Amino acid sequence: MPKSTYRAGITGLGVAVPDKVLTNLDLQQMVDTSDEWIRTRTGIKERRIAGPDQAASDLAVDAAGEALKNAGLRPESVDLIIVATNTPDMLMPATACMVQDRLGAANAGAFDLLAGCTGFLYALSVGHQYIASGTFETVLIIGAETLSKIINWKDRNTCVLFGDGAGAAVLERVPDNRGILSTRLGSDGSGGKHLKVPAGGSRLPASEATIQENLHYVTMNGREVFRFAVRAMGEGAMEVISMAGLTPEDINFFIPHQANIRIIETAARRVGINMNRVLVNVDRFGNTSTASIPIALYEAVKQKKIKDGQNIIMVGFGAGLTWAGLAVKWYQKQ
Ligand code: UT7
Repeated sequence: MPKSTYRAGITGLGVAVPDKVLTNLDLQQMVDTSDEWIRTRTGIKERRIAGPDQAASDLAVDAAGEALKNAGLRPESVDLIIVATNTPDMLMPATACMVQDRLGAANAGAFDLLAGCTGFLYALSVGHQYIASGTFETVLIIGAETLSKIINWKDRNTCVLFGDGAGAAVLERVPDNRGILSTRLGSDGSGGKHLKVPAGGSRLPASEATIQENLHYVTMNGREVFRFAVRAMGEGAMEVISMAGLTPEDINFFIPHQANIRIIETAARRVGINMNRVLVNVDRFGNTSTASIPIALYEAVKQKKIKDGQNIIMVGFGAGLTWAGLAVKWYQKQ
């Protein structure tokens, strides 16, 4: 990585999840599945589902407000807002602009970033560059999803996996011996066909026919995505660890994208990190896509598991196909 002028670190975190809990037992009433199948194949027990009037921006604004409060900042001091989402409120304008308006972040630029479930790590790495170069002092990164709105609730292959939620992180300059140590972004567009929403874009605009054929919902080849995920997460983690000049033994906490406990366990084993150093909440939230890593990070910081000076690795994968890794030496803002 080129030498940076400033170090960027996370100085505040926030989370918002809908109140409604959907359990595996509830899903048993909806599709041909079982609590036992879902738990053993994915590790998920329950997930949160947005209400009919709750969109991605609503969760994003709540999470962002808490993150700014925890960083001790006013909305006016934000220079840039990036919302990573697969479920924007609308195709246009960007959800980030709705968030900017509702927060009252009068001095911020705002855009959305689409990189599948890896979006939050992609957005963190973009924000990192702005701070490292000295262009901006405060960047707000948000992963916000209401995947429940684009899931086919009759398709057991996908409807048991996802949940709704948002996580936000404030990036600021931190002391030279803290902050983001290394980042790595990867993609393999040839695998894009394995996880997509076929209709509603310029290739296949929404029509009566696309709706009848359920083409406005998520379609997924789970086995192919699984194969990609274990390889990408394992290799991604190893790369950012070595780019940061660390070894797996130096890592205090490993925060993988929360899609499936079997993917998480396999990736951790490949990297050589014991599960007692891996943060897991897929059991309570399912796969919240871009929100999964910030929610896990938020919980660990709130519970004071993560402490100043510790080495944290975050790794994700998702539609694209994309993957990313990021190593950070934790900075605890007082
Ligand atoms: O953020 C990225 C999002 N995507 C992912 O992370 C997905 C990654 N992939 C996975 O997590 C796993 O592949 C799944 C959890 C999706 C599936 O697990 P699997 O062990 O790979 O199962 P499978 O696809 O090999 O399917 C096994 C069987 C199939 O039946 P047949 O064809 O063998 O008779 C499925 O039809 O399980 C069946 N099945 C289900 N059965 C009960 C699929 N979904 C369900 C279900 N309940 N919900």
